[in-house]
Amino acid sequence: MRDDIERILIDEAVIEKRLDAIAKEIERDFPEGPMLVIILLKGALVFAADLLRRVPRPLEIECLNVASYHGGMESSGKVNFLDRHFPDIRGRHVLLLDDILDTGRTLHAVSNRLLEEGALAVHTAVLLAKEKERAEEVQADYVGFEIGDEFVVGYGLDYKGRYRNLPYVGVLKPPSD
Ligand code: XMP
Repeated sequence: MRDDIERILIDEAVIEKRLDAIAKEIERDFPEGPMLVIILLKGALVFAADLLRRVPRPLEIECLNVASYHGGMESSGKVNFLDRHFPDIRGRHVLLLDDILDTGRTLHAVSNRLLEEGALAVHTAVLLAKEKERAEEVQADYVGFEIGDEFVVGYGLDYKGRYRNLPYVGVLKPPSD
């Protein structure tokens, strides 16, 4: 896999240090009581696993399956909810975790849906945010790293289903054909 990577953008040690800091912020900011965390599959899995183990407080975890990229490098422009059942989030403070804020459509659509489903408040955390104009006006409450507007893989992020298990965030080499 390393041979497919043009350059490493953020290495593992840097990510880990940043997660320590975000976990402290979440712990400090979040209202008392058990947290309800919603992880967006599959991209936020690695981020969530590493972040949540740093948050020393009771929490419940739910996952949602949404799709907007369909495996390629371009957002389809539409966010689809793939789960048949929606978790019961009525009256809860929710922490929503996603891998990357790109066009903003996913965080916008999911945050709205969570509020429609009765969440009291939705806080959002992303590992990465691309510096670009967004299709939807949305900001994450916690951002690991701001990056340029380029396609990245690793640390949960994939290209055609691969590279999620790379321990760093990197940029793929252009296809050789
Ligand atoms: P939006 O555009 O809705 O994007 O903010 C959020 C979702 O799009 C995927 N995404 C990427 N996936 N490398 C990836 O592997 C990228 O550079 C990238 N940019 C966006 C991702 O699933 C994210 O949740």
